[in-house]
Amino acid sequence: MLEIRGLTIRTDGRDLVRDLSLCLPGSGITALIGASGCGKTSVLKWLAGILPPGMQSDGQLLLDGAGIAPPDPALCYQPQSDALFPWLTITENATLGLEIAGAVKREARAKILPLFAPFGLAGCEGLFPSQLSGGMRQRAAFLRTVVQDSRFVLLDEPFSALDAVTRIRMQDWLLARLAERPRGVLLVTHDLHEATGIADRILVMAGGPGRIIADIPVTTPQIHRNEAALAELRETLKSLLLKESPQ
Ligand SMILES: Nc1ncnc2c1ncn2[C@@H]1O[C@H](COP(=O)(O)OP(=O)(O)OP(=O)(O)O)[C@@H](O)[C@H]1O
Ligand SMILES: [Mg+2]
Repeated sequence: MLEIRGLTIRTDGRDLVRDLSLCLPGSGITALIGASGCGKTSVLKWLAGILPPGMQSDGQLLLDGAGIAPPDPALCYQPQSDALFPWLTITENATLGLEIAGAVKREARAKILPLFAPFGLAGCEGLFPSQLSGGMRQRAAFLRTVVQDSRFVLLDEPFSALDAVTRIRMQDWLLARLAERPRGVLLVTHDLHEATGIADRILVMAGGPGRIIADIPVTTPQIHRNEAALAELRETLKSLLLKESPQ
């Protein structure tokens, strides 16, 4: 269990996130939705230990009840921008996280190379990020993140640049991988179909900096795989977002 307690993030005298507390279970997908600018990425950056200089933060992070300080190897992070290193090939980019975590190059390559085909990246192994499309770069960044062995995975709009079919393929791949090996995933998305389709729980951030106004389970028997109930949930989410978003 990962727990954030009393997180405030501030810059230039303005709170970007104010007194946020939330728990992330060690398995399943928690979706985080909310209007642009409400603070989702700021929370993920704090969890990943990469808040930009000039931002101050206050708050605690606990792993199974014990305090930890980001960055921590229990968490890996896919940023909203792909953040691939332009001077490294896609293979080198994708193995980097594993190598930093201690894997030797050969082991790291053996782990990632079989994923190029299912990720639609076959033939791109030796290419540089500038030679790929935006959606391909996003899949390379997703690959680099999900091959890491951390217990928690933070995904900031990981499929936003993908076409509908590729997006479904990647979502299915993620669900299958999590069924094989449970991990806690925090998934930021603007896509309500994605949130209701693959998440076990949906957090709605709205109505103030980093404020969670709803925490909705999606796996209750009434709603799980019930398309009419999921459509109704999407309407509820939409009205929560509309009601709370500043004009
Ligand atoms: N480097 C920065 N310096 C100052 N303010 C920033 C910086 N980065 C983000 N902000 C501000 O922090 C607030 C929250 O931004 P954040 O990126 O967390 O939003 P978000 O919910 O992820 O939005 P989106 O859905 O558009 O990605 C915004 O008001 C933004 O202007
Ligand atoms: Mg963001």
